[in-house]
Amino acid sequence: MKTKTTHTCQACGAQHPKWAGQCLGCDAWNSLVEEVATISKNPRHQGYAGTVPVITPMENVTLDAGDARLPSGIKELDRVLGGGLVTGSAVLIGGDPGIGKSTLLLQALAFLSQHLKVLYVTGEESLQQVTLRARRLGLPENNLLLLTDTNVERILQCAQKEKPGVLVIDSIQTMHTDLLQSAPGAVGQVRESAAQLVAFAKQTQTALFLVGHVTKEGTLAGPRVLEHMVDCVLYFEGEQDSRYRVIRAVKNRFGAVNELGIFAMTDKGLKEVSNPSAIFLSRYEQPVAGSVVMATREGSRPLLVEVQALVDQSHSGNPRRVSVGLDGQRLNMLLAVLHRHSGIITYDQDVFINVVGGVRITETGADLALLSAVISSLRNRPIPADVLIFGEVGLAGEIRPVQGGQERLREAAKHGFKRAIVPSANVSKEKIGDMIILPVSSLTQAVNEIQNISLHSRVLENTVL
Ligand code: TYD
Ligand code: MG
Repeated sequence: MKTKTTHTCQACGAQHPKWAGQCLGCDAWNSLVEEVATISKNPRHQGYAGTVPVITPMENVTLDAGDARLPSGIKELDRVLGGGLVTGSAVLIGGDPGIGKSTLLLQALAFLSQHLKVLYVTGEESLQQVTLRARRLGLPENNLLLLTDTNVERILQCAQKEKPGVLVIDSIQTMHTDLLQSAPGAVGQVRESAAQLVAFAKQTQTALFLVGHVTKEGTLAGPRVLEHMVDCVLYFEGEQDSRYRVIRAVKNRFGAVNELGIFAMTDKGLKEVSNPSAIFLSRYEQPVAGSVVMATREGSRPLLVEVQALVDQSHSGNPRRVSVGLDGQRLNMLLAVLHRHSGIITYDQDVFINVVGGVRITETGADLALLSAVISSLRNRPIPADVLIFGEVGLAGEIRPVQGGQERLREAAKHGFKRAIVPSANVSKEKIGDMIILPVSSLTQAVNEIQNISLHSRVLENTVL
């Protein structure tokens, strides 16, 4: 069957019968994407098939299978999914090539296959490769159904017949549909293939996992174009050379976003990390300047993370500001606040910021920890290892409260922290262990506290030496 396709400009919507480098409508370059031509939009032509859309009152909608959660056997994965896999949901798992997407799904499928039918479709590896990996990881193989194919229509035919409860497509970039002529991996192909698979998942109550590689040179043909189609978007974060892998829920129709799942890549596959706070702290024998521990709350769980700063005299007229794991724009803003409200000058200094362990912090509760690290490095005065710092810094130099302050303090107390510099508004009457709370409401106050604390540690250090 040959279908009619058209090339639609992604910028202005103009349709062209043939592909061209530039859109004739709006002069945009490289914006034409092949799509299946839609049938007449004229309302008079619709309804000829004799079907009338059905309106349903909400109270009549049944939820028999709609809210059932399937445990995947991997607690950290269930956590980012919002408490398990939802039947009929479409989940996109994105990340750099080689970060562990196939490994994670294979492990989850092996567990799920013990209770229901699962189908793993791979367009990248051979059956032998997948089996070899499963064997090496010691996974149960008895119920794992495998298929190597890249044609969506054929895959859906198979799925229709087999009726799996969970379907994995690894990866969506290798899939192609007969409806379009463009090559697999092209935006149109990725989008159309995903649309068909998602529609199948919804109709048949199949849980669908789509694996998507994030392309190096941009996200155009990558998983980004699929984000609006699926129910849940998970991205692998973290550095490849580190042992740890972090999965973040960027979108979730069934749970909290920004929820983190933390894994370690071992020779036996991905292992859940049960005490994640410990891995993001580097342990020094002596406290070092420029290192501060903060408690962040990504998703529903507090996490202790170490923020490091290196402030060094700049030898160019345009000092460098580099930030890994924290927002670079926000760093610029915070340095301006530091200058304006505390008179601490950094315009002749290069400032480098790093969050240990490759985790990315998106919340503003890291502001005060970041500035403390900068001050500590600038003055070369270490902040003692038992001090925790968090809080949002406003443009007026005020320290604003963060969500879940008590929870963060409790997590810190569990890990042996004894003192905490926190926003005044976060202080409650409830005592947390034997922790000494130092409330601050302005940046000036905070700078004073940091000075007092680090001075104290200097003295201690000298007596030890
Ligand atoms: P993979 O799941 O194939 O990555 P993706 O599907 O995201 O492209 O992961 C491959 C990487 O993981 C590879 O660099 C080797 C590493 N790995 C281990 O370290 N231990 C293991 O047990 C497995 C299966 C993979
Ligand atoms: Mg893979």
